[in-house]
Amino acid sequence: MTTMRQDVSIRPAELADHFLGIIDLYRAHGWTHASDPARLRRAIECSSLAVVALDPDERVVGFARAMSDEAFAVYIADILVAPERQREGIGTRLAEAILDHYPLERFHHQVLVAERGAEGFYRKVGLVPVNSFGLTAFIRSGRD
Ligand SMILES: CC(C)(COP(=O)(O)OP(=O)(O)OC[C@H]1O[C@@H](n2cnc3c(N)ncnc32)[C@H](O)[C@@H]1OP(=O)(O)O)[C@@H](O)C(=O)NCCC(=O)NCCS
Repeated sequence: MTTMRQDVSIRPAELADHFLGIIDLYRAHGWTHASDPARLRRAIECSSLAVVALDPDERVVGFARAMSDEAFAVYIADILVAPERQREGIGTRLAEAILDHYPLERFHHQVLVAERGAEGFYRKVGLVPVNSFGLTAFIRSGRD
């Protein structure tokens, strides 16, 4: 079982301090967002909530963001943990920071589209496939 590392703090993302670290995370995972920094910056600025995981040297080792109508639904857009810091509980703490901010007592839906290979992680943090509720998720996607 994952050991939760307490030397990492979860804080609201401050672009002036954290953007270079955040873009490095996208780059480390080969996500195309990193190829257009201005577009990624705008996406983060327009997100409802963005949080970073910082190590004791204030280095960004994790990032998550979400969009919400602040009333009924929240959509988790990205969760990323630095490759060398995975399986330490950092992803869980980032997910909990978002899910706790939009509690199910007030919000009808917490949703996300899981990347291939990340399904197991999302099950661990308490999310379930939509078909568990007899629902179907639909998507149009610009990628293969
Ligand atoms: C998915 C990701 C965010 C998980 O972060 P993490 O910090 O490694 O996760 P945690 O250490 O909090 O793991 C929590 C639990 O999920 C499990 N888990 C983590 N990643 C998993 C995976 N890819 N598949 C199955 N289970 C996984 C862990 O084993 C742990 O279970 P345990 O408590 O029984 O040991 C991280 O692997 C990552 O950044 N991946 C690349 C980016 C990505 O695909 N993000 C998801 C976008 S939808």
